[in-house]
Amino acid sequence: MRRPPLRIAADGDAAPDALSEQELLKLEKLYCSHGDTVHYTDPPKIFERCEGSFIYDAAGREYLDLQMWYSAVNFGYANPRLNNALKRQIDRLPQIASQYLHREKIELAAMIARDAEAKFARKGRVHFNVGGSQAVEDSLKLVRNASNGKSLMFAFEGGYHGRTLGATAITSSYRYRRRYGHFGDRAQFVPFPYHFRGAKGMSKEEYGLHCVKQFERLFESEYNGVWDPKAGQSEYAAFYVETVQGTGGYVVPPLNFFAELKKVLDRYGILLVVDDIQMGFFRTGKLWSIEHFGVTPDIMVFGKALTNGLNPLSGIWAREELIDPKVFPPGSTHSTFASNPLGTAVGLEAMKLMQEEDFATLVPKKGAYFLKGLEDLKRRHKIVGDVDGLGLALRIEICEPQDSFTPSKAIVDRMVDEALKADLEHDGRRYGLVLDIGGYYKNVITLAPALTISFAEIDLALALLDQLFTRVMRH
Ligand SMILES: Cc1ncc(COP(=O)(O)O)c(C=O)c1O
Repeated sequence: MRRPPLRIAADGDAAPDALSEQELLKLEKLYCSHGDTVHYTDPPKIFERCEGSFIYDAAGREYLDLQMWYSAVNFGYANPRLNNALKRQIDRLPQIASQYLHREKIELAAMIARDAEAKFARKGRVHFNVGGSQAVEDSLKLVRNASNGKSLMFAFEGGYHGRTLGATAITSSYRYRRRYGHFGDRAQFVPFPYHFRGAKGMSKEEYGLHCVKQFERLFESEYNGVWDPKAGQSEYAAFYVETVQGTGGYVVPPLNFFAELKKVLDRYGILLVVDDIQMGFFRTGKLWSIEHFGVTPDIMVFGKALTNGLNPLSGIWAREELIDPKVFPPGSTHSTFASNPLGTAVGLEAMKLMQEEDFATLVPKKGAYFLKGLEDLKRRHKIVGDVDGLGLALRIEICEPQDSFTPSKAIVDRMVDEALKADLEHDGRRYGLVLDIGGYYKNVITLAPALTISFAEIDLALALLDQLFTRVMRH
């Protein structure tokens, strides 16, 4: 018998959860915008439940998640402590207009600002918003404000800062801008020290220095287009960086890179904005990924894992001179749901959790263990061209087996499809793998497992990847 179509508030409708997967997919085709990047597989996968490092489909099949919502769920799915913080807040003060205050917002801002003050020896303030891109927009306002309206930015080739109009202008892919024209000025994109694909014959550190030198060349002469030596002014206001490129394929620069870059920026009066949306909150083994590089940012942007994916809360930290209410007064920016109480309550609990748990020791330890396993896979599978990582931000670059260098998106696409069939076997059980793909050539498996992943689960991940690599080469 045909089911009646879904209607709003009409007696006798099928409850949405009674719809079959086929019916849901049919509705999705008809009624959901496909403007988002949701469809990596055909048909798209529907999940029902999640816990720890695993997600489950309607048939109860188990998938080990190695991307954790692009690093938004650093503390594991359904983390009881964070879920309970959300539930407590729902029962106490779930809603309040942002013209009034609530304690969680204040405590969370103070915690982040004090941590930054201790680490960077800079007083600063925190401003919240609802998503990474929106926080990037806020940071652009701070930068423009501080530089008398300069609208030109530097950013990296391979960089990703979001899909709102302003964030898209400083994101490297033209694809995201092509249909929409220019709303803000497009950044000047500068090469990132991507050593595996960089000039040959240099160590990683040498290549990092080479990239900084190439960048500094721009300031050598006014005829290179960015610097007026007579006025002592750059046309560019800030450099937007991801310390480890996220969407760009978890590319890890040499650890001396940002200190060298910062010297150049300071020389020419250019602000450093660190986009830590994907690499923040201990993804790399430190609260802020820039801490690995011994550099003080002018602005830091964060989002994703602050609430373990339970609420879209993001924010910026900026040093006082840029965000002091005298220069960034009330009304400068606003969103109804910015610093909403559910988000700030979970964010506060997540910060406390990070303070109490020893992620600074555990994440590098787990990361090193995982990376050692990946290096072993690289030795045994010619399709693995490069593996690398910082903390639990890990990369596997998939290449043609003939030279282990030519990028192979086709092999990676096959892998993603095969991994979702949930028929990889280990110790008599069947598993799927949830993988995310990034990289300049869309050939990099970017691994962002839960920071709470166990060593046994890392072994499981390595065993399943091993099987998957063998399988895709058989077909
Ligand atoms: C480094 C980086 N910046 C900005 C963003 C945009 O954040 P959102 O998707 O929450 O708007 C992302 C999201 O993936 C990101 O990884």
